[in-house]
Amino acid sequence: MVMVGIVPSRFSHHMVKETGAFVINLPKKSFQKEYNYLGSRSGRNGDKFAALDLKWEDAEYVNAPILSDCPVSIECTVIESSQPGTHELFIGKVEAVHVDEEYLDEKGNILWNKMDLM
Ligand SMILES: Cc1cc2nc3c(=O)[nH]c(=O)nc-3n(C[C@H](O)[C@H](O)[C@H](O)COP(=O)(O)O)c2cc1C
Repeated sequence: MVMVGIVPSRFSHHMVKETGAFVINLPKKSFQKEYNYLGSRSGRNGDKFAALDLKWEDAEYVNAPILSDCPVSIECTVIESSQPGTHELFIGKVEAVHVDEEYLDEKGNILWNKMDLM
């Protein structure tokens, strides 16, 4: 299980509400420029993925996009939410975890240290 907190005024908020799903993408340090842009502009004012020419694909189990250039992506279904303060807290059930092959050892363990995550 994971949890994310989203302020209702964010454009992303209604998407999570309507689809009942979200994907957590873990970015590498080399993704800093894209990360800053995505975290400071709103999708309400234009397609951020298109503006950055970002590669994305549909998630396998939930109705949300996956950022192809992130080494780990976690697909989640919202099972509960509440808003005790500024952010609505969405509790997600993890449906799938995608990890780039180069970051897995022969037993399927994730090589976190190799990833250079942000
Ligand atoms: C490092 C960082 C962390 C952020 N964390 C959150 C967060 O946890 N919840 C949230 O609602 N906004 C968070 N924000 C702000 C949103 O990313 C920002 O308002 C963004 O423009 C929202 O885009 P949207 O309107 O397309 O959803 C964060 C921004 C940065 C730079």
